[in-house]
Amino acid sequence: MWRNMGLIISVEFNGQFFIFPSQIITNTTIARPDPASKNPVSEETGGLSGKPLFNLSTNVLKDMYLLTRGKIPLIGCGGISNGEDAYKKIRAGASLVQLYTAFAYEGPALIPQMKVELAECLERDGFKSIAEAIGADYR
Ligand SMILES: Cc1cc2nc3c(=O)[nH]c(=O)nc-3n(C[C@H](O)[C@H](O)[C@H](O)COP(=O)(O)O)c2cc1C
Repeated sequence: MWRNMGLIISVEFNGQFFIFPSQIITNTTIARPDPASKNPVSEETGGLSGKPLFNLSTNVLKDMYLLTRGKIPLIGCGGISNGEDAYKKIRAGASLVQLYTAFAYEGPALIPQMKVELAECLERDGFKSIAEAIGADYR
């Protein structure tokens, strides 16, 4: 079961404000995917975040991207801990990414490092911008 969150993004461009409905995909999960299921603390109740969530949440992101056919900006979230993870979310349909657990462990220096890694991924695969890579796995 997933707790999804609707969101309004407001962007200012040339003095005008544009409002976009969007959706964060996903929050934490009450599932206990491997390898988390092997950890004794997995028996505790509550939402699981971080790396073990990555594949589950990216699959939901892909489904939502295909369902909405790229018309709603999706915010990829769940288990992102480096630029390559952010890139995979973008390829699966995310226009933006969000992270919590990795940021809590690594601190603010993670963000500029991720930007460099993401730029390397884009260049490696021949994309000139993030926009070009959004949903690339399913186009
Ligand atoms: C300690 C903690 C507190 C959180 N608090 C909230 C919250 O108040 N509201 C919310 O919508 N999501 C909350 N989340 C979920 C995160 O925003 C995020 O969706 C989830 O942790 C998956 O991303 P991650 O794997 O990068 O942590 C929280 C997560 C953690 C770990």
